[in-house]
Amino acid sequence: MRETELSAGRLVAPMFVSEAAASAPQGREAISTMPSVQRLSLTAVVEEARSLADLGVAAVMLFGVPGDKDAEGSGAWDDDGVVQLAVSALKAALPELVVITDVCLCEYTDHGHCGVLRADGAVDNDATLELLGQVAASHARAGADLVAPSDMMDGRVGTIRAELDADGHSDVGILAYSAKFASAFYGPFREAAGSTPAFGDRRSYQLDPANGREAVREAALDVEEGADMVMVKPALAYGDLIAAVKHRTGLPVAAYNVSGEYAMVKAAATAGYLDERQAVLEILTGLRRAGADIVISYHAADAARWLAT
Ligand code: PBG
Repeated sequence: MRETELSAGRLVAPMFVSEAAASAPQGREAISTMPSVQRLSLTAVVEEARSLADLGVAAVMLFGVPGDKDAEGSGAWDDDGVVQLAVSALKAALPELVVITDVCLCEYTDHGHCGVLRADGAVDNDATLELLGQVAASHARAGADLVAPSDMMDGRVGTIRAELDADGHSDVGILAYSAKFASAFYGPFREAAGSTPAFGDRRSYQLDPANGREAVREAALDVEEGADMVMVKPALAYGDLIAAVKHRTGLPVAAYNVSGEYAMVKAAATAGYLDERQAVLEILTGLRRAGADIVISYHAADAARWLAT
């Protein structure tokens, strides 16, 4: 009579690909805010992805940590950039594995914002759109199956769809970070990716956690612009929106169980306050019950292992 099933095929594993990790021991750099997660070299990414694929995990989602940053984030659309090289390496080694790439500028800009800045320091929405289109096309040329814009600029799904089609990638899908809130729970990720804004915050482009109806409107706009899947992020405090977005859009919905949500469970488990395995499987099942078709989680490999035993 069980209503909700959780399986490895519903899980997506985020991975950090780092230029600097090439010179770290085993091609892996520890992340102080995210125990057991590492920034990986190209070789280590393939190694890690192979074990995820063996466990039946549905897909990997790649984040780039480049060696150099600049004001525009030009490393993001470099065809020889760290994500582009990782996508080609993964597609060559594991052609069946679904590869999703995060499309954003914040890991590549020296100021850490998700777009280019105007003279007054605010993010220039429309100037950023053009760059995001180039990033997505470059990921598609490398072989990405889906691109996932996480910048939250208005109109980016439409721009990216047009750019992908014009570049000959009409078969590459868009997983839109549609309902992405300005959240405290991204803290550990920003440490991992070196993408903490140098000044200000992301509240001019990410959603106010108090606004559910606005989140549903954002998702509906992304659908109109051509999104193939929509995302709600973070996950734990947003179950109502996973359900509402699913109902309103009719599209597959992804829930992103983000870095701070991962770190919270890890910290409590390490302190002996709760049982990690039980807590993680309960969280992932709950997100599936709320309506998530897939769950992006730093616990993906652990969960897949636990589900198999
Ligand atoms: C890039 C991006 C972020 C996350 C995913 N893509 C950081 C942010 O918006 O500050 C967060 C993921 C996580 O916390 O696990 N814009």
